Amino acid sequence: MSGSMVIDGGHRLYGEVSVSGAKNAALPILVATLLTQEECVIEHVPFLSDISGILEILRCLGANVVQHEDGTVVTKVVDETACTAPYELVNKMRASIGVLGPLLAKRKHAKVSFPGGCVIGLRPIDLHLKGMAALGAEIEIEHGYILAKTNHLKGAEIFLGGAFGSTVLGTANVMMAATLAQGTTVIENAACEPEVQDLANFLINMGAKIQGAGSHCIIIEGVKELHGARHRIIPDRIEAGTFMAAAAITDGDITIKDAKLEHLMGVVDKLREIGVRVDKVSENKDGLDNIRIRGTKSYKPCVLTTLPYPGFPTDLQAQFVSILCLASGISNVTEKIYPDRFMHVAELSRMGAKISKEGPTLMIEGVNHLSGAPVMASDLRASAALVIAGLVGRGETTVSHIYHLDRGYEKLDEKLQKLGAKIRRIPSSIS
Ligand code: EPZ
Repeated sequence: MSGSMVIDGGHRLYGEVSVSGAKNAALPILVATLLTQEECVIEHVPFLSDISGILEILRCLGANVVQHEDGTVVTKVVDETACTAPYELVNKMRASIGVLGPLLAKRKHAKVSFPGGCVIGLRPIDLHLKGMAALGAEIEIEHGYILAKTNHLKGAEIFLGGAFGSTVLGTANVMMAATLAQGTTVIENAACEPEVQDLANFLINMGAKIQGAGSHCIIIEGVKELHGARHRIIPDRIEAGTFMAAAAITDGDITIKDAKLEHLMGVVDKLREIGVRVDKVSENKDGLDNIRIRGTKSYKPCVLTTLPYPGFPTDLQAQFVSILCLASGISNVTEKIYPDRFMHVAELSRMGAKISKEGPTLMIEGVNHLSGAPVMASDLRASAALVIAGLVGRGETTVSHIYHLDRGYEKLDEKLQKLGAKIRRIPSSIS
């Protein structure tokens, strides 16, 4: 369901909210199930349109897939003949480029639509292709598709870095391919994001030999085959960070349950710097944290730069820009991962924010209030930033095109309502 979200601003958030499974861990992990014909059971998979999209791709590639109400997804590949990920599906979601590695490794052929750019800027895949070529794949681009084939992938030393540093999905793709390659692969400058570590843990459960995931050097010793496995997805650190921002901006007092504080240290550091109180309240039996966030009436400005993990994540930049619009002074926000990821800025300006931009840097002059307005969501995280701004905007904010939010936030409106936000969804037919 899409449409708009209408928010009556000015209500402080109180109470408890649980974090869903991480979208960006679940997507590559679901794709990795293509590496075996045995059954895989993935738990804590969020209900999101991006997840439905990847499940559709798995079905199209010969997997039986069942998604249970409790968030468990059971997959089993029953037919390995299909090797094509078509444009209509890849186009909806860039994570589908992740099928390249598993298809090449397991089926020796892959035909995957070239994903192209998207609203957050150019998103090249040269590093994915460089990695596959280093493992011995022959690659051609034809009619908008990547055609890749191999007799057998061979382990190699690969430096996976580009102008903007490491690549998360590129590291995932090469790591998956290397699990079934002959010999040893060393990925230098590997992405260290927790989602890459979670994928590595799943692959290890499947019988892969992987060392160093979570560091800049991952070593994979190829094995002959992988088997089925059961795995529970890590909590979504970006969803948790989004609730932290929502609590902060409303001067709220909320406890975020079942999160992983360790994955959020770059974010927590910034929150504390601007004046938010962040405390770990307790730890549950699975080693997950309950984190209390206490806001205040006025925030200090700050200098914020997005960086690969463990630095401040690009996926929380927009949400923090919303908070800094109300800080008592001038903040600078520099985007080092996607220099054009600023679609929220024009919309926040419609709400009274004072933001100027030079290259990949925003200068934000804090104002004393935002005012509710009709605004348009343009991508997932920009949409979240607009909802967050709407929580404090004076009067009513209507965020349209919210299908973007449904790609990556599970029941965001319901979770915010439980925390006391006055937010409602209007389906597109009547919005
Ligand atoms: C993942 O995208 C996430 N997506 C993104 O989340 C996230 O913003 C991004 O990592 C950075 O953390 C998923 O996990 C599904 P990258 P990914 O390759 O892996 C450049 C969200 O909102 N690059 O790490 O595609 C690239 O242009 C989304 O949930 C190359 O130059 O990102 C960027 O500047 C959006 N060549 C930088 O590297 C390549 O071949 C990092 O991108 C690949 C990437």
